Amino acid sequence: MSGESEGGRAMSAAEVGPGAVIAADALLARGAVIGAGAMIGAGASIGAGAMIGAGASIGAGAVIGVNAVLHGATELGERCVIEAGAVLGKRPRLRAASSAPREELGPLVLEAGVTVCCGAVVYAGAHIAAGTILGDQCQVRERTVIGPESVVGRASSIDFSTRIGTRVLIQTAVYVTGGSIVEDDVFIGPGVLSTNDNTMGRHRRGGPLSGPTFRRACRVGAGAVLVPGVVIGEEAFVAAGALVTGDVGEREVVMGIPARVVRRVSDEDLIERWR
Ligand SMILES: CC(C)(COP(=O)(O)OP(=O)(O)OC[C@H]1O[C@@H](n2cnc3c(N)ncnc32)[C@H](O)[C@@H]1OP(=O)(O)O)[C@@H](O)C(=O)NCCC(=O)NCCS
Repeated sequence: MSGESEGGRAMSAAEVGPGAVIAADALLARGAVIGAGAMIGAGASIGAGAMIGAGASIGAGAVIGVNAVLHGATELGERCVIEAGAVLGKRPRLRAASSAPREELGPLVLEAGVTVCCGAVVYAGAHIAAGTILGDQCQVRERTVIGPESVVGRASSIDFSTRIGTRVLIQTAVYVTGGSIVEDDVFIGPGVLSTNDNTMGRHRRGGPLSGPTFRRACRVGAGAVLVPGVVIGEEAFVAAGALVTGDVGEREVVMGIPARVVRRVSDEDLIERWR
């Protein structure tokens, strides 16, 4: 162990930067690197080879897996679990003509009890609320906010500046495009693709992009494709494989290519009966 620190049941091979504050009962495994000024809370455990960036803060009881990388300005609440190889606080690398905003990013904040699974990448400036689970190898971009008790499935990609609500379930390999709004209790099935740019890049830099809006408790089936700007109404149901080219009304069931209304969602299927 090298550098200044306070406390920490560190194994000898951990490297600790100057000014790091480590709780007396925190565990630092062999090869862990703790950056200058980082804070490690009571009972936290840092896995072998994990890198905690300068100034990052790790809440009490958090568990950081082998080879996880937490860049500086990452704030983890109590009891967060970060699995092996996850990367937190990454900065975006934008091409010159990218439409993503470029203002300075705030910290990445993970509230208490958030789980980030193996190989996931969560960008600086995102905010993940308590109890949410980010699945293996998913990506959550800068300025995205995800509410409590939500799940992002394996290999799903949540693009920049997206708003996701409470108890949202996003399954495997979903693409939620930049600027989308996903309200509470929405279900997005595997392989759903959303889009936000009808010009496919042929617009002025910074020109408006228009992600879809998923209203409260709507459900979108596997492999559905949503064109830019569509609104999926409250408690609506989009069948598997649908191509959604226009707004879907509240409680409408739509199906096919292009999607057409086939019936309405029954009272028995409304979310309050299934909580
Ligand atoms: C919509 C859905 C529930 C089926 O509804 P359904 O009313 O039971 O449909 P049926 O099987 O009775 O078929 C009725 C007709 O609709 C057609 N149909 C059924 N599902 C369809 C779909 N997704 N897209 C287009 N047509 C469909 C059928 O071919 C049938 O046509 P026909 O009358 O000409 O023979 C189902 O297709 C679906 O999308 N489920 C969602 C699954 C999902 O993505 N889950 C996510 C988590 S795994």
